[in-house]
Amino acid sequence: MKNVKVKLNQNSYEIVFASFNSENFEERFLKLSENRAVLTVGDKKIQQLYPLMAYRYGKFFALAGGEDNKNLSEIERLCEYGISENLDRKSLFVAIGGGITGDMTGFTAAIFMRGVEFIQVPTTLLAMVDSSVGGKTGVNSASGKNLIGAFKQPKLVLIDVNFLKTLPEREIKNGLAEVIKYAFALDEKFFELLSGNVDKINSLDLNFYNKIIHRSCEIKADIVAQDEKETKNVRALLNYGHTFGHALENLSNYEISHGEGVAIGMNIAGKLSQLLNLWSESDYLKQLKLIKDLNLRYAIPRNIKIDDITEVMTHDKKASRGKINFVLPTAIGSSEVFSNIDMEIVKKALEESYE
Ligand SMILES: NC(=O)c1ccc[n+]([C@@H]2O[C@H](COP(=O)([O-])OP(=O)(O)OC[C@H]3O[C@@H](n4cnc5c(N)ncnc54)[C@H](O)[C@@H]3O)[C@@H](O)[C@H]2O)c1
Ligand SMILES: [Zn+2]
Repeated sequence: MKNVKVKLNQNSYEIVFASFNSENFEERFLKLSENRAVLTVGDKKIQQLYPLMAYRYGKFFALAGGEDNKNLSEIERLCEYGISENLDRKSLFVAIGGGITGDMTGFTAAIFMRGVEFIQVPTTLLAMVDSSVGGKTGVNSASGKNLIGAFKQPKLVLIDVNFLKTLPEREIKNGLAEVIKYAFALDEKFFELLSGNVDKINSLDLNFYNKIIHRSCEIKADIVAQDEKETKNVRALLNYGHTFGHALENLSNYEISHGEGVAIGMNIAGKLSQLLNLWSESDYLKQLKLIKDLNLRYAIPRNIKIDDITEVMTHDKKASRGKINFVLPTAIGSSEVFSNIDMEIVKKALEESYE
């Protein structure tokens, strides 16, 4: 599998598809880590499941793990540990884990000694296809998710699909929601590939996963290269399904997971596009079929009220001054950002998307 290049001028880096134990990775790693201290960071679960990997390059720091611990005091604990271990400006951090580990290690790398280099070894599907690409790092604040952070690109990302063998099914589904997001919003051919291979996806065929992770990385890398810091509307397309999704996650007290929220959110956005005649009913149904075939959630639970959803969306950090930006599909594989959508039609789309 060819490497994916993330082209960002002096911040460019490669996503390498290889086994953690391969010579290919070992060689690259040795080159990068020559004459410098290395600190591997992961959460407790990674430490338990993959002790050999955790300690392979020396010291390991165990993050507490979970969204509740994705905060500044945990970052402080990591920084203090690094200082006590005499890490300096030349040190290298290695993040092995899911999106939380990657976001936190990346953020620490951005601020530790005013900035050190880091590499990412994503071990969840979501981290492989989404959070390890693009350089957004950070932690949650008491008032919301990911409100404190920095853009910090890794020096290298290594994707070893074998990590998925131990990943719980619910986490696989979380990642799959992001995979199909790329297809619906940006790539019709990718949609065809996914729709034609539902069995391989549902049976966790790792060869096929390697292929779809690779394509997802290419798509995200391409978007990020056009809009590294989300100053244009291009990167916003990656938020397809997310405005509705975030509101649902939040209103369910996170009983609805991120991927579940995004999957339901894409279905609502698809319905909204249909009501606005931006795309056809048959496109809407094609999208819904793939969501259902992958056994993802697609409907809003009855206990969440429409008015609460619109209220939360208006206060989302991505809403600019109360105005909600909607990423809506205009065909399978194409989408655009719309900012002047009539809230009555939004409510109708919500009404038609309940369980
Ligand atoms: N930076 C970005 O652009 C970006 C994009 C999307 C999401 N995110 C962030 O990513 C986070 C979610 O990431 P996540 O879903 O990977 O969560 P996570 O890091 O909490 O991982 C999910 C769970 O899987 C476990 N795990 C990890 N790898 C495993 C493996 N191979 N086998 C068994 N268990 C394993 C973890 O210990 C954890 O319990 C959120 O905080 C979100 O804000 C960031
Ligand atoms: Zn997401």
